[in-house]
Amino acid sequence: MLKAVVLAGGSGSRLWPQSRPDLPKQFLPFLGDKSMFQKTLERLTAFLPLQDIYVVTLAKYEAIALEQSGLPASQLIIEPMAKNTAACIGLAAIHFLRKQEDPILITIPADHSIEGEEAFREALQQAYLQARREDCAVTLGVKPTRPETAYGYIKIVQENATDLFRVEKFTEKPDAAQAKSWMNQSGYYWNTGIMAWRASYIEALLTKYMPQLAHGLAQWKAAVSPIHGNLLHTIYEAIPGISIDYGILEKLPLTYLLPVSFRWDDLGSWSSLDRWLPQDADSNVVIGNHRLSHTKNCIVYSDHSFVGTIGVEQLIIVVTDNAVLVCHKDYEQKIREMLEHREHTD
Ligand code: GDD
Ligand code: MG
Repeated sequence: MLKAVVLAGGSGSRLWPQSRPDLPKQFLPFLGDKSMFQKTLERLTAFLPLQDIYVVTLAKYEAIALEQSGLPASQLIIEPMAKNTAACIGLAAIHFLRKQEDPILITIPADHSIEGEEAFREALQQAYLQARREDCAVTLGVKPTRPETAYGYIKIVQENATDLFRVEKFTEKPDAAQAKSWMNQSGYYWNTGIMAWRASYIEALLTKYMPQLAHGLAQWKAAVSPIHGNLLHTIYEAIPGISIDYGILEKLPLTYLLPVSFRWDDLGSWSSLDRWLPQDADSNVVIGNHRLSHTKNCIVYSDHSFVGTIGVEQLIIVVTDNAVLVCHKDYEQKIREMLEHREHTD
């Protein structure tokens, strides 16, 4: 049995102010007329029947996820609060195990842009087959093309003729120096975060590497909903908010990497849009009706307000109803920090 689980409860803070806590990036149409979440579902429906596609998201995004997906509520797995990806993948695994089902799960983020749909489907099929063959985690990997610090890096055991590699080491979000050196070495891949693994294997990994989280989820597995309506809330309050990358993948002995050939990006920051949206002659990306003069290499984004720029370079300028961002491109990874600081001083 095969099921896909779309992870769609992140906050997308580096795309602030367009992406906001009440309407984060995955539900926004950054490229074209459909949201990244909808495009993720569309890509999956070409691979799997709709009834095998599930979404795990937060209670506050339930309405928008239902509306945008058209899925029945029974295919939404709802978390009471954000506790990062280890909890969300763990909850998805338990969702099936408590129904006495033990499918292979394709766990897949909702914030990716992909070009090469056929190669994407082929990769999912191969990953699924390997996860069915043995208890293991299969990760789809992409050759690095820049010293990106927002991704996980995977060192494979050796480059050989096979198309599935054993993983030697997984490092989540390295510093700039590490990322630069790995970009130029063979045997390193970016983690796409798209994975295939069996539900019971996920449960076993959590028990071994994240016992506190496993303990909470075991309580949920044993409970009979809906009688225990508030139980999940209580459990979630007590569990750690750690990503699957730090919590499991950096520690895991048996992982495989499947190199993929499709074009792939995590649309996590304003600069990532640069790689997918058309640029003018001065390398500006302009969304909305604005006037740029002597302006180079900028991103200007506003649906409603007119923006005029003169004599600036390398800026991200975003204007929404109630917020304005002006940020040098070199500092966009600091947007999250700035927002956290604002929360604390408000
Ligand atoms: N349901 C739920 N609950 N979903 C969540 C939560 C949560 O608490 N936190 C994050 N997500 C979803 C996001 O919406 C996204 O679709 C996915 O999980 C991954 O989370 P991100 O926050 O976007 O992770 P990242 O981009 O920083 O890093 C991960 O993805 C990279 C590639 O896209 C890591 O796996 C990296 O190693 C990887 O390179
Ligand atoms: Mg991401």
